[in-house]
Amino acid sequence: MPDATDLVLEASRVIGPGVIAVFARPGAGKTTLLRSLLLRWPGSRAAVDPEYQMQYSTGRICYLDLLGDDWRDLPRGGLIAIDEVDRLMARGPKEARWVLDLVNMARPWGISVAFSARRPSAVRRDLTACARIMALGQITERLDREYLSAWYPEAETLRSIKEFRFRVIRL
Ligand SMILES: Nc1ncnc2c1ncn2[C@@H]1O[C@H](COP(=O)(O)OP(=O)(O)OP(=O)(O)O)[C@@H](O)[C@H]1O
Ligand SMILES: [Mg+2]
Repeated sequence: MPDATDLVLEASRVIGPGVIAVFARPGAGKTTLLRSLLLRWPGSRAAVDPEYQMQYSTGRICYLDLLGDDWRDLPRGGLIAIDEVDRLMARGPKEARWVLDLVNMARPWGISVAFSARRPSAVRRDLTACARIMALGQITERLDREYLSAWYPEAETLRSIKEFRFRVIRL
């Protein structure tokens, strides 16, 4: 059975550049999935902020400096991963603006953006609405399932997804 990384890669290949949202309870494997996606992405790869537990042994992934680097320098077809996007956006208006500009501009620029959050309901709806692919793991909070039901009517079933499993949906 293909794992979530395979499913996301395949969906991205079919629908082209876009935003990938990864939502699941703490410890469900979001960081691991983002890391695996970055490692296997066929184009250029970049991650935002190593402070968020994203450490890569290969050293082939560059980290973007929010204040310095311009993501538009990434070649078309690339992937930018943002772990714990809700925490990043809560840091301040500059960070929030950076993320919103990125998700709005990335697709026309030919760049994909994958972001994760433990609590989807902590993510601005306009950000979640940009997602064309979602990888959904176990969601334990009812409020989060209700939030997701705007995009995924079967969100209630996410309460019982098995450990480290993700359901990958296209929007
Ligand atoms: N598919 C998997 N199979 C086995 N172990 C896994 C898998 N995915 C993640 N793990 C392990 O489970 C633990 C939690 O994974 P990870 O850090 O990716 O979760 P997370 O969703 O990012 O958690 P948090 O919300 O706390 O950041 C790690 O020790 C990781 O190695
Ligand atoms: Mg994590």
